[in-house]
Amino acid sequence: MLSERLAFTEGTNALSAAKERRLRRGLSLIDLADSNPANAGFSWPAAKLAEALAGEGLVRQDPDPRGLRTAREAISGYYRDRGASVDASAVFLSASTSEGYSWLFKLLCSPGDEVLVPEPSYPLLEVIAALECVKLRTYRLRPEGAGWRIDPASLTAGPRTRAVVCVNPSNPVGAFVGEDDRELLRGFARSHGLAVLCDEVFLDYPLDAGAMTWVGEREAPLFVLSGLSKVALAPQIKVGWIVVAGPDGFVRDASLRLEHVADAYLSVSTPAQLALPHLLRDAGPLRQAVRSRCAEAETLLREWAGGHGCSVLPRQGGWTAVLRLPPGVEEERLLMAAIDEGVWAHPGYFYGMPAGLSCVVLSLLTSAEFLRNGLKSLEKALQRT
Ligand SMILES: Cc1ncc(COP(=O)(O)O)c(C=O)c1O
Repeated sequence: MLSERLAFTEGTNALSAAKERRLRRGLSLIDLADSNPANAGFSWPAAKLAEALAGEGLVRQDPDPRGLRTAREAISGYYRDRGASVDASAVFLSASTSEGYSWLFKLLCSPGDEVLVPEPSYPLLEVIAALECVKLRTYRLRPEGAGWRIDPASLTAGPRTRAVVCVNPSNPVGAFVGEDDRELLRGFARSHGLAVLCDEVFLDYPLDAGAMTWVGEREAPLFVLSGLSKVALAPQIKVGWIVVAGPDGFVRDASLRLEHVADAYLSVSTPAQLALPHLLRDAGPLRQAVRSRCAEAETLLREWAGGHGCSVLPRQGGWTAVLRLPPGVEEERLLMAAIDEGVWAHPGYFYGMPAGLSCVVLSLLTSAEFLRNGLKSLEKALQRT
């Protein structure tokens, strides 16, 4: 009776089961992978949010499948501040970036079609693809210098491939999609008749200035995804967006169809749309605080790693660190011992990290005190493995 698209819910992995057992026994667990900004102390004052959510126009619904014009113009302004020109008519609001992905899968794929996704990457797309009856095909990222580059040999399309996803900068390895990889994806997409989906939720968290949005693309069919959950540290407001870019004819045709998908749901609440311009305008200091926290946490982690036979992989941006384990230490065994010692982190295999790279993935939003305590427990787990 129940749809096969939910088959992924069956079964659980050993680490998550051990975590659940510990929590059910009422024992504490320091979550070093927690990337919820509010849990790490980054949140908006309630009064400020209440004011932003209660703007003019709240008492009636003024439905526009693309979203309120004022909100879309604020998003154009966000890109203008980052040196790119985006027409408000090319912007679609959704309830989250995740919902944006599912709309694009509906727009581009019939059931059984395929989307190419990078590996390693955040595991979100497996679930969304299953819910949309879309198959995933992976291409590899490989470490190169301070970043990660696409392995061109792994970038292949089949007769049912419809789109290729990239993440700028990626999660968890924090690599921006540089000009060479953009050129590779552009040529690949055009020669196979694919669209590119570029996820830029972490765009505003580079280590160095000069990180660039891809939203100004004119040659390849491109959708850029982003949202308030990372850009304004406000996941609870539930607003994401899609920008349609590329050749004019593509932008026109894709936008007309995407409008039908968005119109079927009209999923963004009016208060959230009214709040968006305020949140985009005032998020700068909160983002700066997050960048400082990430830098502080990374320094602390590097120092700890150096003294424990580990290393932190180079990254270019984002909120996540990848801790490479000492030779011979297997990530699942370490993390099982870590749960016993009261600390939780993600194993590299959750993200499809390359075989042979035994590592754990940690959030850099974590405060210094919390991180120090978590690392003490991780040290005990290391001694046991
Ligand atoms: C790369 C990436 N894209 C998208 C999302 C989901 O964003 P949203 O909260 O807007 O659905 C996440 C969540 O962490 C993410 O890491």
